[in-house]
Amino acid sequence: MNGKVDALLGIVFGDEGKGKVVDFFTPRYGVVARFAGGPNAGHTIIFDGHKFVLRSIPSGIFNENTLNIIGNGCVLAPDLFMDEALELENAGYTSIRERLHISRRAHLILPTHRLLDRAYEAMKGKDKVGTTGKGIGPTYSDKAARVGLRVGDILDGFEEKYARLKARHEQTLHDLGFTDYDLSSVEAHWLEGVEYMRRFQLTDAENEINTLLDEGKSVLAEGAQGSLLDIDHGTYPFVSSSSTTIGGVCTGLGIAPQRIGRVFGIFKAYSTRVGSGPFPVELFDATGDRIRELGHEYGAVTGRNRRCGWIDLVALRYAIMINGVTDLVMMKSDVLDGFDTIRICTAYQKDGMLTREMPYNTEGWAAVYDDVPGWKAPLSSIRDEKDFPPAFSSYISRLENELCVPIRIISVGPDRDETIIRSE
Ligand code: IMP
Repeated sequence: MNGKVDALLGIVFGDEGKGKVVDFFTPRYGVVARFAGGPNAGHTIIFDGHKFVLRSIPSGIFNENTLNIIGNGCVLAPDLFMDEALELENAGYTSIRERLHISRRAHLILPTHRLLDRAYEAMKGKDKVGTTGKGIGPTYSDKAARVGLRVGDILDGFEEKYARLKARHEQTLHDLGFTDYDLSSVEAHWLEGVEYMRRFQLTDAENEINTLLDEGKSVLAEGAQGSLLDIDHGTYPFVSSSSTTIGGVCTGLGIAPQRIGRVFGIFKAYSTRVGSGPFPVELFDATGDRIRELGHEYGAVTGRNRRCGWIDLVALRYAIMINGVTDLVMMKSDVLDGFDTIRICTAYQKDGMLTREMPYNTEGWAAVYDDVPGWKAPLSSIRDEKDFPPAFSSYISRLENELCVPIRIISVGPDRDETIIRSE
């Protein structure tokens, strides 16, 4: 029997806690593959008292029996990749070179892409996207413009290709008047990263994945960012530059749609967003600050404060539709333990109009809420759903009724075992 590709997708604005869940799922899959994004992601995994933040490396890397693949839809910064991989090697994960394969078709983030990212943001002024500054947008732009450098290029005429693209970028930076930078030390480290990457298996990952599926292996496609940051379906232009939704799994790994099995949509019991852009449920008061503090909602990559708000069913319904989510995963439920009342955004309103569907532009729309009682009890020690406080069970049922998809997994704390699997 052929294996399937299950997808684990953040379905809001990213930072849903994919790292923890994918690590928890890993033993069930022979392969974990990243299909989009790059070091703008920060997947935090905590176990046995250690905390790791993975940016480009798939979260299956901690399991000795799992093959990890960085797919063609990803963008990779050799220097950051080297730092990340060396940290793992130094922590005792010495076999990562055998267990991590990189698609030759993935694109390289150059140091000058990061400068361009900064330059474009500076030009936009108050309309800036609030990017992570990792060069994501400029790298995907070069890919679409058919001038980018790919991982495979580091094995073939690299110096010349690199010099050509770098010169092109420097010309653009000059034209933008962005000249106050020193590339030399960053570039030296980046070139060291290129050298380091050459020691990894740089493969035709699409052939590899399809062969593994034919052999009956199962694959977990690990999403990065969230559906509302998708280049097509997100809150454009305040989005990332890749396909973070289910279509990106097919194009970013080179697999056909009929290979897709289950689609796990991951969200938090409340909402957060980093960077600029409309966010109808955003709280600007002490409640927002309280959620941020209790949920440690500070960016894993940039350290920025995350904007916080109540759960948003308009956004969730939209993402479930786009992705064909079959199973939901709710994270950080314990963060809401102490609240007397919990609010659920069921619709948006603007100028006398009410909508339950995602508008073309969510700017200016205000959230419409239903209030439900809080559970006022600690969830983190619970391991069985029959022990849930009644108000928490009601919260779950309410969400399932509204979203028409079962919540299969509930996380009640950061550690691996603070996770409850609900029966099918
Ligand atoms: P970029 O991906 O660095 O270009 O950033 C574009 C937008 O996506 C910004 O608002 C970022 O804050 C946001 N973003 C990018 N990656 C992540 C992520 O992994 N989690 C949450 N937000 C992200």
